[in-house]
Amino acid sequence: MNQPAVAEENKNNVVDVQAPAYVRHRRLIQWVQRVAALTKPDRVVWCDGTQAEYDRLCEQMVAAGTMKKLNSAKRPNSFLACSDPSDVARVEDRTFICSERPEDAGPTNNWIDPQEMRSTLDGLFDGAMRGRTMYVVPFSMGPLGSPIAHIGVELSDSPYVVTNMRIMTRMGREVFEVLGEEGEFVPCVHSVGAPLADGRKDVPWPCNDTKYIVHFPKTREIWSFGSGYGGNALLGKKCFALRIASTMGRDEGWLAEHMLILGVTSPEGRKHHVAAAFPSACGKTNFAMLIPPQDLNGWKVTTIGDDIAWIKPGKDGRLYAINPEAGYFGVAPGTSEKTNFNAMATLKENVIFTNVALTDDGDVWWEGMTDTPPAHLIDWQGRDWTPELAKETGAKAAHPNARFTAPASQCPSIDPDWENPAGVPIDAFIFGGRRSTTVPLVTEARDWKEGVYMAATMGSETTAAAAGQQGVVRRDPFAMLPFCGYNMSDYFGHWLKIGERLEALNAKAPKFFCVNWFRKGDDGKFVWPGFGENMRVLNWMVGRIEGTASGEEHAFGISPRYEDIDWGGLNFTRDQFEQVISVNDAAWRDELALHDELFTRLQQGLPDALPEAKAGMEKRLAA
Ligand code: OXD
Ligand code: MN
Repeated sequence: MNQPAVAEENKNNVVDVQAPAYVRHRRLIQWVQRVAALTKPDRVVWCDGTQAEYDRLCEQMVAAGTMKKLNSAKRPNSFLACSDPSDVARVEDRTFICSERPEDAGPTNNWIDPQEMRSTLDGLFDGAMRGRTMYVVPFSMGPLGSPIAHIGVELSDSPYVVTNMRIMTRMGREVFEVLGEEGEFVPCVHSVGAPLADGRKDVPWPCNDTKYIVHFPKTREIWSFGSGYGGNALLGKKCFALRIASTMGRDEGWLAEHMLILGVTSPEGRKHHVAAAFPSACGKTNFAMLIPPQDLNGWKVTTIGDDIAWIKPGKDGRLYAINPEAGYFGVAPGTSEKTNFNAMATLKENVIFTNVALTDDGDVWWEGMTDTPPAHLIDWQGRDWTPELAKETGAKAAHPNARFTAPASQCPSIDPDWENPAGVPIDAFIFGGRRSTTVPLVTEARDWKEGVYMAATMGSETTAAAAGQQGVVRRDPFAMLPFCGYNMSDYFGHWLKIGERLEALNAKAPKFFCVNWFRKGDDGKFVWPGFGENMRVLNWMVGRIEGTASGEEHAFGISPRYEDIDWGGLNFTRDQFEQVISVNDAAWRDELALHDELFTRLQQGLPDALPEAKAGMEKRLAA
């Protein structure tokens, strides 16, 4: 960290932010000056991304009560932060896309006129950082200098944000070298919205009941106020890498997607790459780190990314993807050595945990980590917790949206190409929601348009990743409902255009598959074992990509028959398979009616290809 620089306002109201000499970008320095003049922090610190800086900030947060240092013998260099109980998830209803025209944000986004929003933000941010430090956090989304990567700079008054950004992105001084004197960057401003004026005492997790997560697509700017949590505050992730980047992709001919990326290598050494979109907290991290069952004779899965993919056409016309992130901000509850061995191994050290429980020996625990919970814990709100109490009151030791922030490089299944600046070529897209009924285990789309239809109409039962009611089915097109920075119908059109371009170039287009790991039986339990067994489905997909696996056509695409799946070592009966693969005509008529509802909502600008694909399905269903 540089010498903290006291922000001194000179006569012209220009704040001297004391940029280090290695920052040569005048426009950037002027922007930092403007934001400092508005937010009035006590000091400005330019982050260099070093370990020493990270350690110092962690120490500072331990002293402030924001974090606890975990037992170094059990969890070296790791910390637990517990948030304010009101600040635990993304706030979709407080997230705004301020495009010039409301129709450019579309019916699935909250829109406010950009001028009006700017004046609201001017008011909120005026003096918002009083008594605090404003950190200047330069970061690259994607390997530094990769042609697929882009740069952002976040100004934040939260040291928790700085330390998380250091894990989640390539953060630090080298970014300024890539930026040079006039490189492009996405300006991101973040304040917890809790100024410490007049000697007001700080709290462990400052935040504000008023929250605004705001995107200006035209100027590619992000402003976030009032929350210190996850996607609301780590602005490289959902705000930049999805909402703003999706609009950049629309304008420049590429894709920014809510997708994991994995490599799958056959026993003979043939490697394919797939990108898979699932809504938040539906197992993307687990799927990205899948360990194939031993009985499947040497298949291997390697991890490139677990949440976001940036996909650009390469010179050969194929689509190449990078993971723009450098870490995992994963949901902790439900993660165990059984469900995700690789994630647990990634979490051995250098981790920031948020809102999990603290064990009596200074380690962490969450629901699902072990079959038997510890006899006593301090829960995420700092209260005593015992298994008996949990039985009586249902009290959770960890918040259901508790998270870990861990470096991707620590993942045992990390792919050797995960930082390849050229990206990896994508062979298939997978889309999957959490559906207890109706949607089969796996279906292949017959062509790109049918694939876009599948992805566009995806539904999923809601989870704790977002504030609001849980377990209700909502349409989540491409798992992008909370993350698409523009009109969803235009986004479908963009996907269709990318497909047309691949066709025109005669380039190898990825296949589309739709999966559902979550069908339940009459007993209310999941029928499909999931986790590592998902390899059997992936195995079938690879067979389809290579042209060696068979399947059966039905109204919505192609699904495997029982005999098309390699069941070696798993006792999964025909009857069970039927329960997860069957297409119930009546249920599908209802489902198609729900697709109609979605299309009515997205009417404006909806590409004809989608109702056409639906008509084809209805016709096949009637036949
Ligand atoms: C996430 C989310 O944090 O999707 O990845 O909510
Ligand atoms: Mn996500």
